[in-house]
Amino acid sequence: MTTKYELKNTQTGKATLLDAMSGTIGPDVINIAPLLKEQGVFTFDPGFMATASTESKITYIDGDAGLLLYRGYPVEQLAEKSTFLEVANLLVYGTLPTKPQLDAFCSSITRHTMINEQLLRFFQGFHHNAHPMAKVAAVVASMAAFYHDSTDINDPRHREIFAHRIIAKLPTIAAAAYKHSLGQPFVYPRNDLRYCTNMLNMFFAVPCEPYAIDPIAAEALDLLFILHADHEQNASTSTVRLAGSTGANPYAAISAGVSALWGPAHGGANEAVLDMLEGIGSAANIDAFLARVKDKHANVRLMGFGHRVYKNFDPRAKIIRGMCYRVLEKLGRTESPLFELALRLEEIALKDEYFVSRKLYPNVDFYSGIIYSALGIPRSMFTVMFAIARTAGWVAHWQEMVSDPHMRIGRPRQLYTGPVKRDYVPIDGR
Ligand code: ACO
Repeated sequence: MTTKYELKNTQTGKATLLDAMSGTIGPDVINIAPLLKEQGVFTFDPGFMATASTESKITYIDGDAGLLLYRGYPVEQLAEKSTFLEVANLLVYGTLPTKPQLDAFCSSITRHTMINEQLLRFFQGFHHNAHPMAKVAAVVASMAAFYHDSTDINDPRHREIFAHRIIAKLPTIAAAAYKHSLGQPFVYPRNDLRYCTNMLNMFFAVPCEPYAIDPIAAEALDLLFILHADHEQNASTSTVRLAGSTGANPYAAISAGVSALWGPAHGGANEAVLDMLEGIGSAANIDAFLARVKDKHANVRLMGFGHRVYKNFDPRAKIIRGMCYRVLEKLGRTESPLFELALRLEEIALKDEYFVSRKLYPNVDFYSGIIYSALGIPRSMFTVMFAIARTAGWVAHWQEMVSDPHMRIGRPRQLYTGPVKRDYVPIDGR
């Protein structure tokens, strides 16, 4: 029997019964749709603290238990046994692919990695020191002006071609943004290389000498991408859904997601963590830094700590910390002052009453920047790397939404607190 919740107006006594809806796991949600019709009221939940904005079958998080499942599979198992492209396939299609399915998917992604030559020229229009996220957001949006054969959102084959194209081309766009910032020639994708190896080659190869790709670098990137691939209705994914719900061109919707990801409270945190660690400088300064974090007036946050959903360890942070040790060791950088500092900062913060009482733990981005730095990826590119990985999740959510025959435009309401109706006053009478 469905559980009902009663919402009663305490002045009129009028009650409305609201149905609880159950998912396969996780808390029930209350269907509030009848409230407006029956009580004439909206609900109020700034920041969506307690609001499920959609139904979804893609990713599940239990923030108290520190659990993250992609299509039901624990992220730890995928991190250990899978690859980024297999995870992308899983997210987009819903089941683990068979060998022929995965081979066909990887081949299709490989063969879509080149971008239209005209799009490459867009980069010449940017100032050399433009932030790469600005370039990536703009070039992804510009893809809407190309690729007209795959933008009928009501055609499943168009949707599929779009999905493959955007997953395939994001690394090429990211590498072009990086090469442009260096003033180096663009390096074209190579079909004999795998996804992450090809990306490293596009980032670091130059025409004048051969570039040896370090397998540990490709392995570390692949792992980071698996861990960043999706995270249910986070800010950027919700942005992609909202933009896409209007029927907008899918490349425009992904570009909106790139822009939302950029903020320091979201995907920009990886860049901010390294800035913060450098600012702290040494373990001797940790206490003074944490005192500023705890001072409400200082407006300083411990970047890479805290999460809207996790009130326990972010499972991804633990895996990335383990990978940090491996990468630094294999690259012969056993002494990494920033990693040492991050470990000490984590240790101190996890014992501090301020962080303990607020259930603030390291999130996915506390350690990811240390790996990116060790691989030679500059700080301004960290959020771009996140965007490449999260494209898989954005596409999966966009597909799920658009293929739902009941899709409706996303249109929140508000609590209006501005002036009531008043008459215009001519300028000389004000
Ligand atoms: N440092 C210090 N205090 C913090 C931090 C932090 N990193 N995070 C939360 N708090 C405190 C808040 O000041 C607040 O304290 P109060 O109750 O005394 O007012 C309490 O913890 C709750 O914080 P909120 O801001 O209400 O939590 P919210 O869920 O809105 O924010 C967020 C989550 C944005 C991730 C926040 O923890 C934060 O700013 N963290 C640092 C930035 C960061 O690492 N972002 C990456 C998130 S993961 C990702 O998107 C990939």
